[in-house]
Amino acid sequence: MALGKIFEPISIGGARLANRIVRAAHGTGMASPHITDLFIEYHRARAAAGCALSIIEASRVHPSTALDFQLYGDQLVPGYQRLMAAIRPYDMRVFQQLWHGGNTYFALDGSPPWTVSDVPGPLGIVGRTMGNAELKELVNAFASSAALAEEGGLDGVEVHGAHGYLIHQFISPFYNTRDDEYGGPLENRARFLLEVLRAIRERVGPSFAVGVRLGASRSSGVTESMLKRVIQMVEGEQLIDYVNVTLGDYFRQDEIVGGMHNPAGYQLHSSADVASVSTVPRLLTGRFRTLEEAEQIIKDGQADVVSMVRAMIADPDLIRKTREGRVEEVRPCIACNQGCIGGLLRSGKVGCAVNATVGRDIEQSDREIELVAFPRRVVVVGGGPAGLEAARITALRGHHVTLFEALPHLGGTVTLARRAPALHTLGDITHWLEQEVFRHGVDVRLSTYVDAADIRAECPHEVIIATGSIPRADGVQVPFPGERPEGIDLPHVLTTHDLFSNVDLEGVSTAVVVDMVGHYEALAAIEFLMTRRIKVTFVNYMHNMVRPHIRSTWRDDPAVERFYRKGEIEFLPQHRLVEVRPGIAVVQPTEADASHRRCIGADRVVLITQNKPLDGLYYELRDELPVHLVGDANSPRDVQFAITEGYLAGRRIRGDKPVSAQFQTAPIGR
Ligand SMILES: Cc1cc2nc3c(=O)[nH]c(=O)nc-3n(C[C@H](O)[C@H](O)[C@H](O)COP(=O)(O)O)c2cc1C
Ligand code: SF4
Repeated sequence: MALGKIFEPISIGGARLANRIVRAAHGTGMASPHITDLFIEYHRARAAAGCALSIIEASRVHPSTALDFQLYGDQLVPGYQRLMAAIRPYDMRVFQQLWHGGNTYFALDGSPPWTVSDVPGPLGIVGRTMGNAELKELVNAFASSAALAEEGGLDGVEVHGAHGYLIHQFISPFYNTRDDEYGGPLENRARFLLEVLRAIRERVGPSFAVGVRLGASRSSGVTESMLKRVIQMVEGEQLIDYVNVTLGDYFRQDEIVGGMHNPAGYQLHSSADVASVSTVPRLLTGRFRTLEEAEQIIKDGQADVVSMVRAMIADPDLIRKTREGRVEEVRPCIACNQGCIGGLLRSGKVGCAVNATVGRDIEQSDREIELVAFPRRVVVVGGGPAGLEAARITALRGHHVTLFEALPHLGGTVTLARRAPALHTLGDITHWLEQEVFRHGVDVRLSTYVDAADIRAECPHEVIIATGSIPRADGVQVPFPGERPEGIDLPHVLTTHDLFSNVDLEGVSTAVVVDMVGHYEALAAIEFLMTRRIKVTFVNYMHNMVRPHIRSTWRDDPAVERFYRKGEIEFLPQHRLVEVRPGIAVVQPTEADASHRRCIGADRVVLITQNKPLDGLYYELRDELPVHLVGDANSPRDVQFAITEGYLAGRRIRGDKPVSAQFQTAPIGR
């Protein structure tokens, strides 16, 4: 498709946008509690590639709520000024999202937050219902933060009225149980938002842009028709210069940040409807990955500007590469949510599963990486994500790279995993890596199993071992590792490798999936079986279906929802496998004795245990050569660790001096 509309300028209030591509607000953890150099560099890199507008992450306007970036105090304006100075050479406008969480989180000092009512929030927090004095103070806080943003040189602000936070709670008929002029009919429930917007308008200049983010959500009862009415009220008083429409809340977080199961534009059924009444520029979002997709919704008249958050986390240079006709070089966001929202929720800092530079004090753009002065001969063993990324970045730095892969194709375990339902876009990243490796001139040798002697024969200066891992098949389970289930050698006991390799499931009606890992792998196995109308009993030793690092990706609840739609599933948490017999799996609660064992019908048993690293080559070579051990061969984990370690190993290969006898040999740490 010819791109045209997407590159047309547009004005939002007094802010002129050079094109229609925006990065909506997204928490980074890099401004806690004040703007850092890391934060500035993160945004600068994306400005340099042509993003027209960035909306800085949701940040608190008042200490009665908690998010680390604070929009008050002495350090705010100097921080803004440093940011704006850094992006000055580029044509990117910057807005600040103004936020209060209401009953979502505790206040900054850990006390109950200020809220609309005493209805508990999504995490069960009961806050302090605000009286008139608190309401006034908050309205003033929103306006003061807007004024400080203007003083700091920003181009506008956006009031966060979506995702179940305070203003959304005011609009919600379920959370807003007030009987004063802020509760009851929609006109009253929207009053707080209107007061906030009026106060902001009074405090900022006429060219300073003001917008609002709104979004429907089932669990708070905020419907599309309510929001259309709210937009009309707000626009009736000319309070906003643009509207940003989204979807979802903390009960349906996957609607806020959609996963692999969501198609591009997954919010449009709701957001485009809401935005349709607006007379100011409309900003829409939802897993857009290419400028073509964004162009399409502008051409269709659904939006005026399009946000691409994760797409530009994964590749800061998306716009530049597309403009230069190098669209196939854009590193794809695979919608795994592991590094970005998952990273933020787990470790307080945004990262990216496919882009190791995010959240690191390192060049954000490959374009800024310099060629080495003294290229080395580097051998990479293994063509999974870790080996591919290691080969890519090593070659990009100018080294001579040979990659050996034992199989006839590249991609490693991802080529299997992508066969599971709702996981196919996982394969996009290995496909991209494969293309890049060839583009950078890596000498790829497929179907070539190498041992230590073969590697020595290549006379490499450095070696990267990315040989991955294999299912352990010895029956070791996390609780009681000294105990091996009887019968695990029976032919109907499978690994996920067997399962996704299209093992014969003809005539199978029941299966037990036993999981000791807690990653998405088990959910993928369950869905794979259920799609074939097989009744599944899911056994794990945890309290939840998955570990917290997968819960934080917001992809597990939608998977469970699909399970219920597909058929029968029973879940036995805090259990382990003790015996397998033909047609039967015997399981036992981890906290109970053998008298509590249960026999479950199982035509097949899928046993998911921690893999064994294939690290033999590393130990054979490490006393002779500089060897880097990465990915699952270092420790079996997931694609984010694999790519990160591949990247870091590639960056670690020296090239500033001629080759010396002094070598650095180590596994790669995060
Ligand atoms: C790491 C991360 C943090 C986010 N933080 C915010 C936020 O602070 N405010 C907000 O309104 N939306 C936030 N979002 C939602 C995004 O603005 C956007 O709506 C969502 O990522 C879907 O767009 P995408 O598919 O282009 O990523 C966040 C998303 C991510 C991935
Ligand atoms: S972590 Fe996954 S979802 Fe998030 S930006 Fe990176 S690839 Fe996309």
